Amino acid sequence: MNNKLVLSVFPGIDMLGKAFEENGFCIVRGPDLITGGDIRKFFPPANVFQGVIGGPPCQDFSALNRSPGRYGYEMLDEYVRVIMSVSPDWFLFENVARAPNFDIKGYSQQRFALDLGWFSEFSRLRHFVFGSKSGQLLDPVKGQNKHIVGGAVLGGDERSFRACCDIQGLPDDFDLPEFTLAAKKQAVANGVPLQLGRYVAGLIAKSLYGDDSKVPSSNDVVRRCSCGCGRVVVGRASYNSPACRKSAQRQRERLSIRINS
Ligand SMILES: C[S@@+](CC[C@H](N)C(=O)[O-])C[C@H]1O[C@@H](n2cnc3c(N)ncnc32)[C@H](O)[C@@H]1O
Ligand SMILES: [Zn+2]
Repeated sequence: MNNKLVLSVFPGIDMLGKAFEENGFCIVRGPDLITGGDIRKFFPPANVFQGVIGGPPCQDFSALNRSPGRYGYEMLDEYVRVIMSVSPDWFLFENVARAPNFDIKGYSQQRFALDLGWFSEFSRLRHFVFGSKSGQLLDPVKGQNKHIVGGAVLGGDERSFRACCDIQGLPDDFDLPEFTLAAKKQAVANGVPLQLGRYVAGLIAKSLYGDDSKVPSSNDVVRRCSCGCGRVVVGRASYNSPACRKSAQRQRERLSIRINS
């Protein structure tokens, strides 16, 4: 794979895209409501982009939302529609832990969690789905929260704009001069923390584009965790960690609820 042309959907202020740019990718940004666009009117061409990144709005899937609606599902369908029409070699989806699973025909997929708290003093759990046509998957770290001093940036955060930027990994001079203070904070809160974006972008750059001699390819015989997170397991283990075992158990329970109802 040589060109690193990537489409970023639902970009917002595209903190995720910025992290990919830092890793040498060329990012083309799709429409967003905050800049007057709408993905429902977006029909990108097939076979131009190698990757697609982005996460649809997560409010309807968030545990904090007491009255979730259907909009999140509509946008998830839009996300899947765009992937199917763009037909990229790989995609990276980002969302909250409660976002539903989806399957896109023709792709091998893995779903894994990363917490900002593994990379900084602030905790924020995000779920990522990586899919590839070749079958090559990522082997993301499973970290541990270190010394946590605070939570994620939320819309309506009481901390100063500078503090919010700092927590999300944005530089000291970052600003959105056209936005009201509330809109600035909301946009920064919606973004994927740069520390997480950089980690995943680096992983993709290394695994798919770089010297991947140490990274297992789909042709090598590697065994991956049975929870679906895609992490490589060694020896006779089925799961990467006890958390993976629990996650698989929860998935089975959800499935049996669906089958029985
Ligand atoms: C989770 S945020 C994206 C954050 C971004 N990935 C980042 O790292 O900065 C989701 C975005 O979806 C946008 N959005 C919601 N409905 C949309 C629609 N119908 N068309 C395009 N964008 C939409 C929101 O305005 C918001 O910016
Ligand atoms: Zn696992």
